[in-house]
Parts: sequence; structure tokens; C-alpha cells
Amino acid sequence: QTLESGHFQWSAPSNIALVKYWGKKDNQIPANPSVSFTLNNCKTITKLAFDKKSISTALDVTNEFSFDLLFEGKPKEDFKPKIQKFFERIEIYLPFLKDYHFTIDTQNTFPHSSGIASSASGMAALAMNLMSLEKALNPTMTEDYFYQKASLLARLGSGSACRSVKGQVVVWGNQANIEGSSDLFGVEFPYTIHENFKNYQDTILLVDKGEKQVSSTVGHELMHNHPFAERRFAQAHENLDQLIAIFENGNLEEFIKIVESEALTLHAMMMTSMPYFILMKPNTLEIINRIWKFRTETQIPVCFTLDAGANVHVLYPNKDKESVLQFIKDELVGYCQNGQYLCDEIGNGATQL
Ligand code: PMV
Repeated sequence: QTLESGHFQWSAPSNIALVKYWGKKDNQIPANPSVSFTLNNCKTITKLAFDKKSISTALDVTNEFSFDLLFEGKPKEDFKPKIQKFFERIEIYLPFLKDYHFTIDTQNTFPHSSGIASSASGMAALAMNLMSLEKALNPTMTEDYFYQKASLLARLGSGSACRSVKGQVVVWGNQANIEGSSDLFGVEFPYTIHENFKNYQDTILLVDKGEKQVSSTVGHELMHNHPFAERRFAQAHENLDQLIAIFENGNLEEFIKIVESEALTLHAMMMTSMPYFILMKPNTLEIINRIWKFRTETQIPVCFTLDAGANVHVLYPNKDKESVLQFIKDELVGYCQNGQYLCDEIGNGATQL
């Protein structure tokens, strides 16, 4: 491998927010801080091959980005505008981008069009690869700088992607009492995490695999002039504050209150924007009600969260895995499209392959 040509390969996981990011300012600066569990199994694996343009081609196309995109081994034209836009945004941070031709070869470990957003894992995996090239060009950079800048680049691809670089709990956005937190990149939660959260489980119930009627880009925009925006942004700070204490004391009852309230608040913001919209489906609500009933009957601390879609993330401690999986099979699978669900758990972030 030389700086003329070669390749890198990284995998990056998806993540699920506990305190939600919904609303942003220019340059992908979040309107409020968020915190997420990094996942372990739902990942994107991306290989980035690079070839330095020869002087003659460089002169010809010096003002163009040059890349091919393969998804699961096949050319994928419809992802290209998103990558083009990403390159435009990050060029000031990676001035070498136009010197190379890239082949981006990418695949997900989760089923295509399962309704699981691959933008977080996908943008994080691409950002890691680009940072590997940046490091090859500037070998003295520290590991901290490498990960911080990778997260910053990922943020410019898709906001929540900046939380997929590291594990296991990641904070993105300025929060006065979280040391090192920043609007520019995600950081590992810097304080104690109680062992109740060790190997925390996330079973993702695939309720609806269709295209969303409203993209998250549009959803974020609708938080401008939203009647409840200011209160919501303040609430996210308060909830994150409470989670700091909960991560330390392991109080799952309090954890559940915050997490479920955050999920419903996210959807409440959608329902109260103008135009208003609903991303939950009838089966989303059926599942939520079943979870509440099961929790009351068994006292098992299982809860749900949602992202910008109809799928339900079922969160529970590792020690309750057997009972909750049985409950899911007996009572919830019927509400999933084609009976599909994915078993995941908290994980460690991006890895170089
Ligand atoms: O990263 P985006 O722009 O796709 O926004 C995603 C926002 C939510 O998934 C709904 C919440 C979050 O914090 O991940």
C-alpha cells in the first residue's frame, strides 16, 4: 500500500438514541444534546479503494470529485448524490479528496430496506475509511484526534452518524456537566456506567419496511418555528442530566421513564409540527401496549424506544434475555412485518478490518 493507491476497510455500527436529536442549526449542529447506545450487530462494512489521479487526469477533472459506488457488490447510482454532497461538505477538512479516485464498496449486515436506517452506520464507516487515508498522509496524528475528526466528518454526513464511531454510550452535543461534550462530534460517555447496563439488549421489531413519508431531513427542519421547540430542547438537557445519575445508580425504573418519554416526545414533535405527520403504525401502538402490560405483570424492566419510523426497539437487561425473547416470540412477532425482528445489543463502535 502506498499513498498512490490502496484500500482500507472499516465496519461501523448503527446506534439507538435514548435522548433524541430532533432539530438542528446550520452545518449539522444539533439543537439539543443527545445520547445513544451504540449497537453491535447492525453494521455497515465499507471498503474504500483509492487511486491517485495521474497529473493529466488531475488537470482535466481537477474540480470534480471522482468516485464509484458499489452496494452489495453492484453499482448503486441512487446513493451517489448523497455521497457527492457529503464530499462537498467535508472537503475543507480533507483537502486531498479531489486528488483521488475512490471506489466505495459497501454492505450492511441487516436486511436491505428493513426500515432500519443505514445512514448512521454507513456515514460512520465511510468517515473512518477517509480518516485512515488522512492518517496515512499525516502519520503523526493521535488516536484521540483520529476518532474525534472521524466523528465530526460522520456528523456532516448524517447527524446521528457521529454517535456510531465510539461505544458503548455516546453523547453528542454540548451539555454543561458532561466533560468534553461537543456539538461538533460525539464522545464516549465519560462517567461510571452501572453494571445493570452491561450487555444491554436491543431487539428491533420490524413493523414497517416501507419508505417513510417524511424524511428526517424534513422533520428536523420542521422544528424551526415549532410551537414547542424551545421547551423540548430544554427538556432534552434535563433528561440527559437525569440519565447521568441513572447510569451511575443503575435505577432501571427511572431509566425506563426517561427513555419511553423521549421516544413519545420525538413522535409528539412530529404530530405537532406544521405540516404534521405520523410515522407510527397501528402495530407500533399495539406493541407498546403489550410491552406495558408485560412489564406490569412480570416486573421485568423492559421498555421501548422509537427512532424516526414505525419500528420498535425493545430494550432490556441481559439477565432478562430469555424471558423477554420468549415474550417477543409469543406476543410481539405477530405485529412485525413478515414476523421479522433483529437481535442486537450494546457494542463498542467502529473497527478496522
Ligand atoms: O441523523 P438523522 O438526521 O437521520 O436524524 C436522526 C434522528 C433520530 O434518529 C430520530 C434521533 C436520534 O437522535 O438518532
